[in-house]
Amino acid sequence: MACSLSFTAITDFPLTLEKFTNHPQRIYPFPFLPLHTSSGYGSFKCFANSRRKTTSPLVVHAVKEEVIGQSPISEATLDSKSISPSSSKLVLVVGGTGGVGQLVVASLLNRNIKSRLLLRGPEKAIELFGEQDEEMLQVFKGDTRNPEDLDPSLFEGVTHVICCTGTTAFPSKRWDGDNTPERTDWEGVRNLVSALPSTLKRIVLVSSVGVTKFNELPWSIMNLFGVLKYKKMGEDFVRNSGLPFTIIRPGRLTDGPYTSYDLNTLLQATAGNRRAVVIGQGDKLVGEVSRIVVAEACIQALDIDFTEGEIYEINSVEGEGPGCDPQKWKELFKNARSQ
Ligand SMILES: NC(=O)c1ccc[n+]([C@@H]2O[C@H](COP(=O)([O-])OP(=O)(O)OC[C@H]3O[C@@H](n4cnc5c(N)ncnc54)[C@H](OP(=O)(O)O)[C@@H]3O)[C@@H](O)[C@H]2O)c1
Repeated sequence: MACSLSFTAITDFPLTLEKFTNHPQRIYPFPFLPLHTSSGYGSFKCFANSRRKTTSPLVVHAVKEEVIGQSPISEATLDSKSISPSSSKLVLVVGGTGGVGQLVVASLLNRNIKSRLLLRGPEKAIELFGEQDEEMLQVFKGDTRNPEDLDPSLFEGVTHVICCTGTTAFPSKRWDGDNTPERTDWEGVRNLVSALPSTLKRIVLVSSVGVTKFNELPWSIMNLFGVLKYKKMGEDFVRNSGLPFTIIRPGRLTDGPYTSYDLNTLLQATAGNRRAVVIGQGDKLVGEVSRIVVAEACIQALDIDFTEGEIYEINSVEGEGPGCDPQKWKELFKNARSQ
C-alpha cells in the first residue's frame, strides 16, 4: 500500500544544547503578572475563550488560514470554563515548544488549565506564549535525555502529563548534540516515565502511526534511522510502567509548527476544511492529521476515563469536526474502540 507518511524537518529552532549545572532549573520567563487583557482576537473557535487575550511583546501575525467554523462551542460552554473542575489540573507538557506541543500549551492556557513546561530552551516560552501569570504557566529547563534534569521537584503537584517530544526521522540539524530518535523517542521517554510519580492521573504520549510495522514497507523507509522502532520502545515503556496512560499515534502531521506565532495567533490557527477526525486502533490507519486535532485529542483524552490504557491512531479529513466538544470526542474515541 502506498503511504505518504513523512516527518517534517524543522530547522529554524535554535539548536544548541546547553550543559546544566543544577537540575532542574525553574525559570521565570514571564516577568509581568497577571495575563493581560488588552484588545485582541475575540472569537476563537476550537481554542476558544473570548476573555483570554494577551499583550505579547511580539507582533501578532496575520492568520493565513481561513477561520471557518470549527465545531462550535457555545458561549455558555466558554463561560463555564473558568469554574470548570478541570482547573484543578496541573499539566506537565514536555515538548511544549514543538508543533503539537505549542498548540497543547496554547489551548490549556485558553482553558484556564495550569501547565508546566520542561524545555531545553526556556526563552522560547515567552516568544510563543507571551507574558503569563506564573500560576498558569511555569517553565523548567531540562532535557529528557538527562535523568538528572527530571528531579522530583519538576513533578510536584503535576496531575497529568502530555509528552509531545520528537526529532526528525532522518539526520538533520535537529539531531545536533546527539538528539537522535534513539535518544529522544526512546531514552528521553524512558527517563521521563521512570521519573513520574505514581500519583499521576494520566500520561498522554504522542507517538506515530506505523510503529508496529517498522520492518515492513513503506514504514521501513521511514524507519531507516530507527524512528518508528524507538517510538515503539517508548510506547512499550509507557505501557509497562503501571501508570495510567493514553497513546496517540498521529498520521503525517499538517498545520504548523507555527514557529513565529504568538499565543493569540496560535489560538486562531485552524485545520481549514480538514476538521473531521478519524480515530482507529490496531495501527491500521494511514493518512494525515492536523496538529491542531492532535493537540485537542491529547487534551480531551485526559478527561475521558475509558481512554486510559488505550492506544489510538488519529487522522483528520475534510468535513465538520468535533472542535473541542467533549461529547463528540467521547463518541469518536468510543467508536474507535469498536472498530
Ligand atoms: N511530523 C510528522 O509528520 C509526524 C508524524 C507522526 C508522528 N509525529 C510525532 O508527533 C510528535 C509531535 O510532532 P511535532 O512535529 O509537532 O513536534 P516537533 O515540532 O518536532 O517538536 C518536538 C518537541 O520536542 C522537544 N524536544 C526534542 N528533543 C528534546 C529533548 N531531548 N528534551 C526535551 N525536549 C525535546 C523539542 O524541543 P526543542 O525546541 O528543544 O527542540 C520540541 O518542543 C513527535 O513525537 C513526532 O515525532 C510526527
